[in-house]
Amino acid sequence: MVQKLPPEKHGGELETIAEQYGIDTDRLLDFSVNVNPLGTPESLADAIKKGFALLNRYPDSSSRRTRRKLAHHLNLSEENIIVGNGATELIYLISRCCSERLHARDAVIIEPTFSDYQRSVSLVGGRVRHHLLLHETCFQLNIDHLIADARDAAILFLCNPNNPTGQLFQKSQILALATTLEKNLIVVDEAFLDFTDESHHNSVCGEVINFPNLVVLCSMTKLFAIPGLRLGYLVAHQNLTERLNQYKEPWTVNIFAQIAGEMLLDETDYLQRTRELVKIEREFLFNQLKQFSWLTPFPSAANFLLVHIGREYLTATMLREKLLKRGILIRNCSNFVGLDERFVRLAVKEHAENLKLISALQDL
Ligand SMILES: Cc1ncc(COP(=O)(O)O)c(C=O)c1O
Repeated sequence: MVQKLPPEKHGGELETIAEQYGIDTDRLLDFSVNVNPLGTPESLADAIKKGFALLNRYPDSSSRRTRRKLAHHLNLSEENIIVGNGATELIYLISRCCSERLHARDAVIIEPTFSDYQRSVSLVGGRVRHHLLLHETCFQLNIDHLIADARDAAILFLCNPNNPTGQLFQKSQILALATTLEKNLIVVDEAFLDFTDESHHNSVCGEVINFPNLVVLCSMTKLFAIPGLRLGYLVAHQNLTERLNQYKEPWTVNIFAQIAGEMLLDETDYLQRTRELVKIEREFLFNQLKQFSWLTPFPSAANFLLVHIGREYLTATMLREKLLKRGILIRNCSNFVGLDERFVRLAVKEHAENLKLISALQDL
């Protein structure tokens, strides 16, 4: 019997759920985390084998070889890149490095979004101001309002496409922000951008040379389905990476992750298949969900959908519990700033799995 679940901070946490509620993790279909539905690329087995032979050495603390490969891939210099133990490490690194600024001025966060921006600012004693986008207007951004709100901020955090709304900001909007708010640090989290159709057109990685106030976060964890390995990087102007590096802990990226980072960038076919699958299945899931009179999915550019529950007396907590009884885990979004018990997030998975979700919803 599934008991009442406390709202969780992140998706996943399968072990905790399994332990608390006596569910077998292998039999759970996890729609609560947004990792690549194709699963981990097979070539990764070679990276693990290679890494095994190097376990008796310390990994290069600056992930030099991985940075070199990334620099080539992004057409930037190695000095523009810092590799981290997932993008998460780098979010906390940015706030730590800016703690002095953050004591003088607020951080502005476009909400609803990933909660670790706020946590990273709070941990260094900084204050956060939420720039809230509303579901009633499909989370539309008014750039003038944002500029007015963020003008005196130390840092502006922006997630593109945004978790959990799936909303994509245009490159021109971000560059307008970076130009107008030249004294603010603009942090753009592109953790999910590679899942979108036009990822190259909307990435601002290449702009860090022109904008010394721009930091871009990227996650390989999501894209290559390696949350257990953990790998991410940030891209910024060299002046900024030099400062950030002064605050970085050494050896946070293990040898397996470093080698994987070098190898995975060559997985062009896998990336192509990923984008095709996500595009087709996102549309399928969106259209299927729309058929339910009590569910409204929001348009999304990413590999997940935010869904509004419009049935009286059915909360996100209740829906999550009902689906959990059917072996399906979804993300209750009630703990995102600006959302409540009427919102859940669903990852886009492979067709057979998406069908199981739709069938479980029909069963309710
Ligand atoms: C927007 C966003 N950025 C970063 C992360 C963390 O990524 P990583 O696993 O690379 O630390 C997440 C994880 O959910 C996320 O949603």
